Amino acid sequence: MPVYPDPAVAVIVVAAGSGSRLGRELPKAFVPLGPRSILEHALTGVFGLAEPAQVIVVAPDAQLADATAIAARVAGAAAGYLDVLAGGDTRQASVSRGLALVRPGVTVVLVHDAARALTPAGLGDAVIAAVRRTGHGIVPGLPVVDTIKSVDAGGSILGTVDRSLLTAVQTPQGFPRAMLDAAFAWADALPATDAAGRDLTDDAALVAAAGNPVSSIPGDPLAFKVTTTWDLRRAELLLGDATGSTGQARVGTGADVHAFDDTSDLWLAGLHWPGERGLSGHSDGDAAVHAICDALLAAAGLGDIGQVFGTADPRLTDAHGEVFLTETLRLVAEAGYRVGNVSVQIIGNRPKLAPRRAEAQELLTGILRAPVAVTATTTDALGFTGRGEGIAALATVVIYPSSQPAPPKLNQ
Ligand code: CTP
Ligand code: MG
Repeated sequence: MPVYPDPAVAVIVVAAGSGSRLGRELPKAFVPLGPRSILEHALTGVFGLAEPAQVIVVAPDAQLADATAIAARVAGAAAGYLDVLAGGDTRQASVSRGLALVRPGVTVVLVHDAARALTPAGLGDAVIAAVRRTGHGIVPGLPVVDTIKSVDAGGSILGTVDRSLLTAVQTPQGFPRAMLDAAFAWADALPATDAAGRDLTDDAALVAAAGNPVSSIPGDPLAFKVTTTWDLRRAELLLGDATGSTGQARVGTGADVHAFDDTSDLWLAGLHWPGERGLSGHSDGDAAVHAICDALLAAAGLGDIGQVFGTADPRLTDAHGEVFLTETLRLVAEAGYRVGNVSVQIIGNRPKLAPRRAEAQELLTGILRAPVAVTATTTDALGFTGRGEGIAALATVVIYPSSQPAPPKLNQ
């Protein structure tokens, strides 16, 4: 096990909310924003901080495994500084749980909303520097541009608020560690009936209520919070992932056929199918996966699967779909593209796809990090598939230009 020195900074990333105002089935941090989840975007900024930091991700109980996988992927070599734990019923409770895991050597703690997915790392660096410079709690904030009115419950205007006195605050908010610890301890010690320190929507409010100085520094428009569908749309547009940008899309098609071979196991659409007739081939004969790879390579202008992988490559003897797909995805990313979506149709009498369609789609979607639809058909007893001699697969993919860095190479 590598030994990591204790970092001086910890970042608590709160991602345990349900996202009720966004109204999706998944908790907000796990909702896709382009090809990646909101949480993955947020963590990319956090792991981009100039100095090494302990990163503590607070996620919903049901999403702990997902959050761990996402965080480990983004952390890469920095994984030694990572903790993932379950959150509480309120944002404040989630922060409090994260705070309990801050390591001994940490002197500055940042608290960041995963929902502020596009926050640049530089904002966190600026907050850390300001905490050290002032010894205060620090919040990034932007001037309020709209005229603000106070209204009563019936909607009648009571007055106009002087907006020059207002700032719209964002995260990450930063604090001297001892100050944040003491403020949470103060709030925890309050009687349950005392609303002053309970369930505040940001940490600066709690720290200030506990009697500490809090200052603001300029925020960043990119640190806006994804709260509603409109915010999500704005984030998509900023990432260049708007579905309207089809002018830049590239399409690829791929096909593959393998004959049945009773001496091998069946691997199809990335899944093992015990009890089904296998397919012949140098690798595992997974026609659906090979058709997808062919389509992806074609869309990116990289040739076809035979040209790219070759049958002589010993890494591919009996290789399963994940190896092909991961390497193809890397090549596509290296060529400057990301996957929009994939559709693959399996043509054959067996296996019956329906009972495992969802499983296949989930597996392939996870590997390609883009929606994959898997469908199947028979050919009315016609042709080689109708005679039960083998399986064919046809794939269509859409890819988009991307500025994301390519993932690492297939192990040599
Ligand atoms: N959060 C949390 N634990 C909670 C509630 C919120 O970790 N019990 C996190 C959210 O995941 C989010 C951040 O706090 O990253 C800011 O909260 P908000 O934008 O309000 O997110 P949600 O509470 O998930 O959304 P909503 O209020 O619309 O339900
Ligand atoms: Mg909320």
